[in-house]
Amino acid sequence: MSRADAIAVGYLIAAVLFIVGLKGLGRPSTARRGNLRGAAGMMVAVVVTLADQAIVSYWVLGAGLAVGTAVGVLLAVKVQMTAMPELVALFNGFGGAASALVATASFVEDIDHGGITDRTAVAATATVFIGALTFTGSVIAFLKLRESLAWSGFSGIGIFNAAIGLVGAFLAGIVIAEPSEDMWLRVLIAMGVLGALAGVGLVVRIGGADMPVVIALLNSLSGLAASAAGFVLDNTLLIVAGSLVGASGLILTQIMCVAMNRSAFDVVFSKPTTTATDSTQGSFYGGRVKSATPEDVGMLLETASRVVIVPGYGLAVAQAQHAVRQLTNALEALDIEVVFAIHPVAGRMPGQMNVLLAEAEIDYDKLIEMDAANSTFAQTDVAIVLGANDIVNPLARTDPDCPIAGMPILNVDEARTVVVIKRSLSPGFAGIENPLFAADNAVMLFGDGKQAVADITKALTDG
Ligand code: TAP
Repeated sequence: MSRADAIAVGYLIAAVLFIVGLKGLGRPSTARRGNLRGAAGMMVAVVVTLADQAIVSYWVLGAGLAVGTAVGVLLAVKVQMTAMPELVALFNGFGGAASALVATASFVEDIDHGGITDRTAVAATATVFIGALTFTGSVIAFLKLRESLAWSGFSGIGIFNAAIGLVGAFLAGIVIAEPSEDMWLRVLIAMGVLGALAGVGLVVRIGGADMPVVIALLNSLSGLAASAAGFVLDNTLLIVAGSLVGASGLILTQIMCVAMNRSAFDVVFSKPTTTATDSTQGSFYGGRVKSATPEDVGMLLETASRVVIVPGYGLAVAQAQHAVRQLTNALEALDIEVVFAIHPVAGRMPGQMNVLLAEAEIDYDKLIEMDAANSTFAQTDVAIVLGANDIVNPLARTDPDCPIAGMPILNVDEARTVVVIKRSLSPGFAGIENPLFAADNAVMLFGDGKQAVADITKALTDG
C-alpha cells in the first residue's frame, strides 16, 4: 500500500468513527459510547495528519499545541459553568476564523508556487467569506449571551445586509468571468471584509427568542467553513468532518426553529427581534404578587399528588441540580409523582437542563418534552418554576410585539398552583415582565434557587 493510500484509509476510518459517534449521540443510553467513538476518530485523524509530511514543521505544531493547551487549561479552570454557552459561541467563531486563515495561507502559498486552480480559488473565497462571517457573528452572539450588548443595529440594516450580498455576488461574477491570480487575491481580501461586515449585520439584529436559532446556525456555518477549507487544502477528512458539523448544525437549527415557531428565513431577514432592556417591573406588577415561605410551599406540596418541576437558566446559575434531586426524593417518599418539563431553549444552550439534571443522576425517564408536558398541566397540582422566566411567560401567547411573541411556552399557568422560585421580579433573557408572577394561582418564593429548594425539602422532611 502506498503512503497516500495509507493516509486515505486512515482518514476513512476516522470519518466512519465520526459518523457512528454522531449516531450514538442521538440517544442518552448510547451517548457516552458515541462520544468515545468520536474522540477515537479525532485521535486517528490527528495521528494520520501528523504522519503526513505535507504539513508544517513539527516545531510549529509543537508551539501551536503548547499555546492552545495553555489557553484551553486556563479557560477550563476559569470559566464558570453558566458561561459555557458563551464560550461555545466563541469556539464556533474561532473555528470559522481558523478556516479562513488556513485557506488564505494555503491560497497564497499556491499562488507562490504558481499552482492555483479555479476550483481552489472559489473554495478559498467561500471559506474566507463564511469563516469571517462566522467569526464576527459569533463574537456578537457571545456579547449578546453575556448580556453585554443590547444594540440591535441601525435603521436600514436590512438594506446594508442586502448591499453586502449584492457586492459579494458582483465580485464573484467578475472573477468567474475573467479569472486571474491577481484578481483572485483582491477578491479574497474583499470577501473577508464583506463576510466580517455581514456577520455583524446579520447577528446584531437578532435577540430574544431567536438567539438559540442563530447560535445553531453559526455552529453550522463553522462546519461549512471547515468543509470549504478542506477543498482548498485537498483534505478529504476536513471536507467530511466539516460537512458533518454543517449538516448537524442545520438539523439543530431546524429543530430550534420548530421549537421557537420561527423559520430560519424569518430569523435572519425579518424585522429585528430585540432584547428589551427596560423593565417597568414595579408598576407592571402593581402589588399583585404574592410571596410564600419555604414552609408554605412545603405544606402545599404535602397535599399534592402530581408535581411538575420546570427548570430554567436560574437552575444553572444556582447549581441547584443536587438540591432538586433531594427534593424529588423527599416528594417521592411521600408517594407524590414528580416529573421535569423541559423546554427546548431553557437555559442558554441546547440540552443544558438535561445535562445538569443528568449530573445529579435524575432519571432520564422523568424528563418530559414541552408538548407532552403541556397536555398534563391541567391535571398537575403544583408546578414549580425553578429559575425559569421566558419559557413560562404567557406574553409569548398574548403580545404579538414582545421579543418572544409566538414562541411556544410551557403552560404552567394551567396547573392548580404555580410556585415560582427566583431571587427577584427581574426579567429573564428577553428583558420583559412576566404576568405569570402576578397570576391568581401563582406564588413567588424569593431566594437563590439552591437554598430555596433545600429549605423546601427541609420543611417537607421536618414536616
Ligand atoms: P430566563 O428567561 O433567562 O430566566 C432565568 C431566570 O433565572 C431569571 O429571571 C433570574 O431571575 C433567575 N435566576 C438567575 N439566577 C438565579 C438563582 N441563583 N436562583 C434562582 N433564580 C435565578 O431563562 P429561561 O426561562 O431558561 O429562558 C431561556 C431564555 O434564554 C430564552 O429567552 C431563550 O430564548 C434564551 N436563550 C436560550 C438559548 C438556548 S439554546 N437554550 C440560547 C440563547 C438564548 P432573578 O434574577 O430574579 O433570580
